[in-house]
Amino acid sequence: MSRIVYVNGEFLPEEDAKISVFDRSFLFADGVYEVASILEGGLIDNEAHLRRLERSLAELKIEIPWTLEEIEAAQKETVTRNNVTEGLLYLQVSRGAADRDFAFPKDPKPVLVMFTQEKKLRDNPAAERGISVISMEDLRWHRRDIKTVQLLYPSIAKQAALDAGADDAWLVEDDFVTEGTSNNAWIISEEGVLITRQLSHDILHGITRKAVMKLAELHQIRVEERPFTIEEARMAREAFITSASAFVMPVVKIDGFPLGDGAPGKLTRELRRIYLDMAHELGKSVS
Ligand code: PDD
Repeated sequence: MSRIVYVNGEFLPEEDAKISVFDRSFLFADGVYEVASILEGGLIDNEAHLRRLERSLAELKIEIPWTLEEIEAAQKETVTRNNVTEGLLYLQVSRGAADRDFAFPKDPKPVLVMFTQEKKLRDNPAAERGISVISMEDLRWHRRDIKTVQLLYPSIAKQAALDAGADDAWLVEDDFVTEGTSNNAWIISEEGVLITRQLSHDILHGITRKAVMKLAELHQIRVEERPFTIEEARMAREAFITSASAFVMPVVKIDGFPLGDGAPGKLTRELRRIYLDMAHELGKSVS
């Protein structure tokens, strides 16, 4: 069945939606995006996603004519019109269409699009068995804190991981893991401390990362924000990734080496459960 997508104020069947060939997100990757999860028909942690959208837009000096409230109303309408109870809401803002020129256009008219993807996020079999990752050099640009649509390298890295028989790649710069192709990377030390890279321009400031940090604090689980190497990760007690689409997802193999007994770790499973309990309540309350 065809989806209803949102394009600049209009809800249209996906076949009828049109974007200019001169759109700058198409020609220059000059646009930003957000992905929020949908549970029970409600958007999870959407306020935080919208705040990050605002920050990404400000960093690229893209001025939009919509308020965050208007965007949120359109997001909810897109979810409702597509009857999605579980899945993802994708939102993209481009600087707009202009004749091809590297300089920004004088009077840009930003383009806002949204669509939903139905997906089983909660009962994801990958969470039961855990995922495997390979390490790859991080060849992305140096402003990974801005959620731009220039995702070619993450896409190449993800495909390389699949071609190597793994599920995803952890990107490495100067010997330290930055993050996954589309998620934040975590390890758990022998002492049960959660370790994840500190916020900087090197990584995306994950909304799920922030929620897990908060939940860890509530449950008196120690968190250390610092870089770690692949060698340290391979010796870790547990490892996992976080993102709006994966929530808390166990990592059980790094570069072919199983972690511990090769099964999802106990604390990781507990964190996923705690996160889902929280998200479940959030989903119900915003739907
Ligand atoms: N990706 N790091 C990168 C590079 C990401 O692309 C993402 C999200 C994250 C996790 O951020 P959050 O917890 O806010 O989802 C970290 C989304 C899901 C995507 O591109 O589909």
